[in-house]
Amino acid sequence: MERARLLEAMKPRMPEKRYIHTIGVTDTAMTLAEKFGQDVQKAEVAAILHDSCKYADKDWMKQTIIEQKMDPTLLAYHHELWHGPVGAYVAETEFGITDLDMLNAIRFHTTGRIGMSDLEKVVYIADMIEPNRKFPGVDELREAAKSMSLEDLMITCLSHSIQFLMSKHQPVFPDSFNCYNDLLLKKKGNL
Ligand SMILES: [Fe+2]
Ligand SMILES: [Fe+2]
Repeated sequence: MERARLLEAMKPRMPEKRYIHTIGVTDTAMTLAEKFGQDVQKAEVAAILHDSCKYADKDWMKQTIIEQKMDPTLLAYHHELWHGPVGAYVAETEFGITDLDMLNAIRFHTTGRIGMSDLEKVVYIADMIEPNRKFPGVDELREAAKSMSLEDLMITCLSHSIQFLMSKHQPVFPDSFNCYNDLLLKKKGNL
């Protein structure tokens, strides 16, 4: 079974806590995909692979970003942001994922971006609210997931994340701000 094979491949790449998080994201992404009419199997596979590079070697990730001509802006920001784009590269080259929507769900799961697909939103939100996450406000986000539209839920999760970073005086990657504005302007009908 694909799920078992991919999960087994994730085990040696991460500590147990992150592996448990991966399972939590996978189950949550499948539930959200079902709820919001998305392809449950695509959500499952993208979620299993989303943190494959969370503990990858930083120098190797940096080299991959340069060699694969990924957004060079990434290098100025914290290496925490690198595992999404590099994870998408690994999903494609090591695990043979060819579906662009799944690759983008992995690529942008930390930052969001302008024009996110519904599958991308599902994985982003699942990563934030899976049952093992513990941060102030997570219960409210889980509650919101029961009633809000996918768009409103994405705006709520993203604004929580951006506000958290700003409260700590941490830089916010431009894709996140752009994503936030994009979602709000579309909601207002301005785009
Ligand atoms: Fe991640
Ligand atoms: Fe994650």
